[in-house]
Amino acid sequence: MDLMTAVSLAGALFVTLLAVTFGYFVILLLLVHAKYDHLPGPKRTSFFFGNALEIAKATRSPVSAEPDASKISSYELFYKWFEEYGDTYVMFLMHNTLTMTRNRAILKTILTATDPKAFPKSEKLKARYIYGVRCMGDGLATAVDHDVWYVHRKIMDPMFHRNHLQLATDAFNSTGDSFLKSLQKCVESGETCQLAQLLHYATLDVIMKTMFSFDTSDLDSEFHKASVHFIKEFFVAMQLVFIPTAEYNPLFSNHRKSVRNTITSFRDRGAQIIKARKSAICNNEDVPNDFLTTILKAHLDPSTGYDFETLVDEFITMIVAGMETSANTLAFIFMELGRRPDLYERLTAEVDDAIGQKAFISNEDISKLKFTAMLIKESLRKYAIAPAIIRNCAKETTVDGIRLPADSNIVLHILGANNDKKFIEDAEVFNPDRFNPQNDERVPVYSFLSFSLGARNCVGQVFAQMEMKVMLAKFAQHYNLILDESETFQMGQTGTLHPLNGVKCRIVNRH
Ligand code: HEM
Repeated sequence: MDLMTAVSLAGALFVTLLAVTFGYFVILLLLVHAKYDHLPGPKRTSFFFGNALEIAKATRSPVSAEPDASKISSYELFYKWFEEYGDTYVMFLMHNTLTMTRNRAILKTILTATDPKAFPKSEKLKARYIYGVRCMGDGLATAVDHDVWYVHRKIMDPMFHRNHLQLATDAFNSTGDSFLKSLQKCVESGETCQLAQLLHYATLDVIMKTMFSFDTSDLDSEFHKASVHFIKEFFVAMQLVFIPTAEYNPLFSNHRKSVRNTITSFRDRGAQIIKARKSAICNNEDVPNDFLTTILKAHLDPSTGYDFETLVDEFITMIVAGMETSANTLAFIFMELGRRPDLYERLTAEVDDAIGQKAFISNEDISKLKFTAMLIKESLRKYAIAPAIIRNCAKETTVDGIRLPADSNIVLHILGANNDKKFIEDAEVFNPDRFNPQNDERVPVYSFLSFSLGARNCVGQVFAQMEMKVMLAKFAQHYNLILDESETFQMGQTGTLHPLNGVKCRIVNRH
């Protein structure tokens, strides 16, 4: 065979292969469309991309440096679509689908299922492996195998029990005091500060102190900067889940490379902290009785199946799950307090009355903060910072007359359920009194899913509420905030929801 013939044969083979792949993809798309076409949903604007282009066009880009305030976050768009297409609808992202729901019967069926294999977390959850690099892996929040998850949750539950958390109060107070120092600098400079950023530093410090006995209160420390950078890159990557081509599109190659490097180096940092403690335990040195020691002891017991990489997964999990969530909830509360002086007056009156100017806020003090607790709950309801969670529907299931095909990705839209006007009056109004225990009309269970429900609910929910109460009380003891005129009260989104402008404000002394 001469060279020319070989080249034309190779060319023909390549074209045939391309045509077969294309044909296969077209058939795959037709099958996927047929499988889900019984469900309502926004019209596919492209045969190949489904609704992906429309979502990208209508929502703010997670990768742009300057967020476009004229657009909304994708979760607000998905929320809007509930009004148009009903409580359960389907979205197509090329050959993948997401079935969005805020239907109470479906939420209940999935969250309270007794068969753990019926609606598991998906192995394809992006947070487990991002662009091929292990990230949260088999950590508690993303563990897929029920039996493995169950053993780990049993080990961790006591660490998050109210009694054990009494020990965390020292850390809440010491971080709260560092937070106050940063606020004092804002007062003295008289300049506008970005409160959200200070809150991120504070909640990272709390996690590192309580879980790993690692002090990060020096805001300029390398660890602090690396953590903030890791969180930023992580959530941008998570947000790109709605742009299916981000996995291989050359336009995103720099982003993918940067995310891979960031995750690898941050995991290395975690591994170093864990190794240092492991050798201290093995050398019988005195070690703190914290989360890290607990999981390391489990790791040293072969029956638990906790390998070293899973310990690193837990390190990443605690930072991802515990830092952004509390920081952004607090940021939304401050945004509302800045908008509503009447609420701020109620907060300061409660703090003055229950705690006064005491520097150390004890557990007993925390339990007296009833209005503060209501403020936190209302913020969690209205601005459900973890706006949705995802489960796989393993076999075909019909609930409330709605057929969910086998192997579907079901998005339980917490933000949608919490703000569903059918069940909650004036849902758009920020009204902490909904959570007043003396109120006869209780907020329905499925209108407060912010910590999820059932076996895989948030293990850190008591921790988070205690931490937030201390931060709010310390702030209220000393300061007032005056929101910047640029405040738009919009939600931004990078994985979790946050106030778009980062709560720009001036801080002034109260007394
Ligand atoms: C305002 C604060 C918080 C909110 C709104 C929140 C929300 C949630 C939600 C919705 C889930 C369920 C996720 C899913 O099913 O995919 C979850 C799980 C989880 N959260 Fe939180 N969280 C908060 C704070 C924390 C904190 C402070 C920690 C740790 C210190 C934490 C650790 C976890 C873990 C480990 C899980 C996985 C539990 C499991 O699957 O067994 N969270 N959280």
